[in-house]
Amino acid sequence: MANMKFELSQKAPQQISSEVLAIYVFQAEGQKAEFVSNEFFAQVDKALNGQLTAVCNSESFQGKSGSVVSLFSFEKIVPTKVAVIGLGKKSEFVLDDLRQTTGKFIKSINKKARAICISLPCGADEETADLLDVIVQSVELANYEFGKYHTQRDEQIKLSSVVLQVNKTENLSFLNKHIVHSQLYSQATILARDLVNEQPTVATPTYLANLAQNIAKSNPEITCKIFNRAQAEKLGMGGFLGIARAATIEPKFIFLEFKPKGNKSKRKLALIGKGITFDSGGINVKPGDHMQDMKMDMAGAASVLGVFSVIAKIKPDFTVIGCIAATPNLVSATSIVPGDVVKAYNGKTIEILNTDAEGRVTMADSLSYAVAQGATEIIDFATLTGAALVALGSDVAAMFANNQDLASKVKSAAFSAGEKVWELPLERDYKKLNKSDVADIANIPSSRYGGTITAALFLQEFVGNTPWIHFDIAGPAFAEKPSGLHPKGGTGFGVRTVLKLLENKGDLTDPGQVRMSIQNI
Ligand code: BES
Ligand code: MG
Ligand code: ZN
Repeated sequence: MANMKFELSQKAPQQISSEVLAIYVFQAEGQKAEFVSNEFFAQVDKALNGQLTAVCNSESFQGKSGSVVSLFSFEKIVPTKVAVIGLGKKSEFVLDDLRQTTGKFIKSINKKARAICISLPCGADEETADLLDVIVQSVELANYEFGKYHTQRDEQIKLSSVVLQVNKTENLSFLNKHIVHSQLYSQATILARDLVNEQPTVATPTYLANLAQNIAKSNPEITCKIFNRAQAEKLGMGGFLGIARAATIEPKFIFLEFKPKGNKSKRKLALIGKGITFDSGGINVKPGDHMQDMKMDMAGAASVLGVFSVIAKIKPDFTVIGCIAATPNLVSATSIVPGDVVKAYNGKTIEILNTDAEGRVTMADSLSYAVAQGATEIIDFATLTGAALVALGSDVAAMFANNQDLASKVKSAAFSAGEKVWELPLERDYKKLNKSDVADIANIPSSRYGGTITAALFLQEFVGNTPWIHFDIAGPAFAEKPSGLHPKGGTGFGVRTVLKLLENKGDLTDPGQVRMSIQNI
């Protein structure tokens, strides 16, 4: 878990005790191959008798985004080392530069420092609170590791304390509240990562259900209902139970509800997460290579649980429900087989043509259950199709929307959260590809092209006219390589976008205009 201690300081940077002091600088505008000094840099440089400038020059440091120069200070100043981090040209600077460069810097000092100091970028036009947000979350997320199964790591140096140095004119109590608030984002993201990275035999439907119940127990505004196999059967969740047939462990349908005290709003936002705790493919078994990655097939569920773990502190002023149909997709003598027909919660029948397209079959029930609960908006997260990786690569989520107002709000939230999404069309002409000869719809399309779109069109059949956003997160939910703010494995994709959205009290749709509100802390 995130156990990082953040502290604000208005002392001069060269006087703050730390193993590494990080200072950001911009690159010069135009063609000049040089960086631009600033007040914090100049103070430290002076205390070092100009050696900081000398080292930067000797290494031809130009302040390009992500470049770093560091120097041992030989006790001339309080910090043991100084790192100068380039942010690129100020005219091209966006908060994502700060996110990426900070993440890169934190990874570079991994296992090398326990206590550091970061000087907030001087001269950036963004508000200090926004800069702080980005730095706090980048530090915590870049520092994340899933280490619980390593047995020989006692000696390791772990970063645990960060002093954030700010200008003398800043209001510390305001900024301190902001840090606490910002940490909720990383805390929730880290919970989602841990759930994805956990071995599938541990992170079972029961494990997820217990977590949901514990979240509800510790928050009076949250309630939780869990339906076991028999109860889901009574409700008519034939899609979910069809996929769950192979498993000897209990599948669980998880329902969470956050209702703010004195709730006046009619809004009821539903968050749906695909909860396949392991996807073997079922009878249409997957090939062996990388099958271990299919423990990530509950990443959507993990993100929903991450959001609910902090939602009472974020305090949206409307109701939020969460639905997760949790089961593994396994091969056994009782598995669902191609040719079977199941009936979803909303009464629609689905012909199973491929047991590896199981996500949409379980989501048919969770989506239509949310509609029946009176959801006024639905957002779902699902590691649904390999085709999403083909279309948008490993970093960008495919987004679909049947309502453009909601779409633009969600896009702004994703933008300011630093999560990459791109909208694909719910192309009506492709609906015919999902036709079945024997049931209302088939679980795989008749063409292999546009597989992400046909999967989304399948889901659309279960949301009716409710404003709805679907995220296919097969790419960004799980990193095959370390990059940006995460190591290999679960990324917690979606958590920060939803949290931003929950805080978007007004109708702001401009990217960058979705601001956090801290009045409720
Ligand atoms: N869980 C997979 C999708 C997936 C693939 C997620 C790669 C992350 C990385 C899903 O259940 C699946 O197997 N989908 C099939 C659908 C096909 C049979 C229509 C796919 O994408 O191949
Ligand atoms: Mg409760
Ligand atoms: Zn599958």
